[in-house]
Amino acid sequence: MSFVYDFDEEEPVRSYQAELDSPYFTTNTKLHVLISGAGIAGLMLAILLEHLDISYEIVERCREMKPLGSVMCLNASVLPVFDQLGLTKEILAASKPIREFNFFRGSMKRLGQYSDHTAIERDGYERLVLSRPRLHEILMSKVPPEKIHMGKKVKALNQSEDGVGLRCTDKTEFYGDILVGADGAYSAIRQNLYFQLKQKGLLPEADTRAMSKGFVCLVGVTSALDPSFFQGIEEQYSSGSIMISDNSPYTLSEKESEEAQFRTSEWGPETSDKILGQVGNYKTPFGSLGDLIRATPRELISQVFLEDILYETWAHERVVLIGDACHKLLPNAGQGAVNAIQDAVILANCLYEIKPNPTHDNLVRALHTYRDERYSHVKTQHSSSQLSAKIQLGHNWGEKMLRYFILNILPKKMQMRQVVKDSAYSPLVAFLPHVPRRGYGTVLPQREWVQVDKI
Ligand SMILES: Cc1cc2nc3c(=O)[nH]c(=O)nc-3n(C[C@H](O)[C@H](O)[C@H](O)COP(=O)(O)OP(=O)(O)OC[C@H]3O[C@@H](n4cnc5c(N)ncnc54)[C@H](O)[C@@H]3O)c2cc1C
Ligand SMILES: *[C@@H]1O[C@H](CO)[C@@H](O)[C@H](O)[C@H]1NC(C)=O
Ligand SMILES: *[C@@H]1O[C@H](CO)[C@@H](O)[C@H](O)[C@H]1NC(C)=O
Repeated sequence: MSFVYDFDEEEPVRSYQAELDSPYFTTNTKLHVLISGAGIAGLMLAILLEHLDISYEIVERCREMKPLGSVMCLNASVLPVFDQLGLTKEILAASKPIREFNFFRGSMKRLGQYSDHTAIERDGYERLVLSRPRLHEILMSKVPPEKIHMGKKVKALNQSEDGVGLRCTDKTEFYGDILVGADGAYSAIRQNLYFQLKQKGLLPEADTRAMSKGFVCLVGVTSALDPSFFQGIEEQYSSGSIMISDNSPYTLSEKESEEAQFRTSEWGPETSDKILGQVGNYKTPFGSLGDLIRATPRELISQVFLEDILYETWAHERVVLIGDACHKLLPNAGQGAVNAIQDAVILANCLYEIKPNPTHDNLVRALHTYRDERYSHVKTQHSSSQLSAKIQLGHNWGEKMLRYFILNILPKKMQMRQVVKDSAYSPLVAFLPHVPRRGYGTVLPQREWVQVDKI
């Protein structure tokens, strides 16, 4: 197997002939899974494979995981999975329930509220917020450290009837039966796979587009705050505050925007001081934004470029994509984590089915089954994330009207009808005991997962 494609531009393209004596190609009775990326998606899959007793290893670019700050939302669509894994206690200890989102003008005049106080009775779970670094840490602690190769940046992949291999920038190579690209929005696995598919004329037109233009966004997690200054933070329930400035939004010129997109093409702490300085006077329910920025360690502030794209191709032969690698959603509804976790659950269920008989054909079929199971759900999420972006961030006349309508005119009953409809999808891990349904709301029936017979 050789790797002809090097997509890092700083190094010249060269061909590399790899050793072919990997054990996976000769025995081929036991599955071995390669995972690129130790984010929420990759770690969740690793934990599931651990329970499934399928061997795997993770290849992660970072030398050590830096706790980049932002907030994640978990809800009844994924919390039953944490129950199944016995992680609920830890998650609850690290999070706060959230029931209300308040909307304000830049002057702090209230625009309205979105609230849902019935989740606990309806779904059996509160909606939870927790810091992304903390969630990451909890998941990481469940994966044996020797199964994560840190400081290995994946650069090229190749696959054949017999297996799949990947090669890192330091020229180390890894081999397995399946390769899972869990390496985020700028996935090296996706870029490699699409490059190869395009050369063969197999890449759908839709997957050749660039990401759409988006928003520049600052995210951060403050240190513990002084409750005498920041009032309300000790309440049992957390709440969201959305401030929408009255004047034109803070906009970047076309050139600045392109620069920001280029510079923050990865989530990272390379925040521009210029933006930090310019938003310091913005008001929040907790004093000025500057007060919050000052309470936040600099390395826990990231500038991110929010984009929005749903790819069509998620699997080809032995390679499959999960999480942000195949769908980057606008994060205002907290969909990132929920969808990454659901992807991992469904992929693990598909691997469970073929585990007794992991032939090439069965493997390829399993990866396509995963895509078929997930795609329509993610497509729905994609549309709803665009709608919530309009409601939460929109500045034009139509978007303002829409926001007014949703917050002040739309009957609560109708709003809730949609919430109930959306919350019905809550896939469980097929190979762990199912948790009993705790709320009164209806859930979609679980798909039946059946293991193929051993030959
Ligand atoms: C700093 C940060 C802040 C975020 N803030 C929010 C938010 O506020 N709201 C929200 O909904 N979502 C947010 N997200 C996105 C959210 O975390 C993801 O949607 C979700 O975690 C699923 O991500 P993932 O595991 O698919 O990818 P990621 O979390 O991006 O993880 C990908 C992993 O792959 C590694 N990797 C990348 N390239 C390579 C390579 N070539 N070789 C090896 N490893 C590689 C990365 O280092 C990373 O560890 C944020 C993500 C980050 C990183
Ligand atoms: C994959 O390996 C084969 C066999 O060595 C080689 O012919 C082919 O060009 C390689 N493809 C890529 C995309 O690296
Ligand atoms: C959980 O969050 C996701 C993403 O925002 C949403 O689509 C889903 O409906 C939510 N589930 C519940 C039970 O509220």
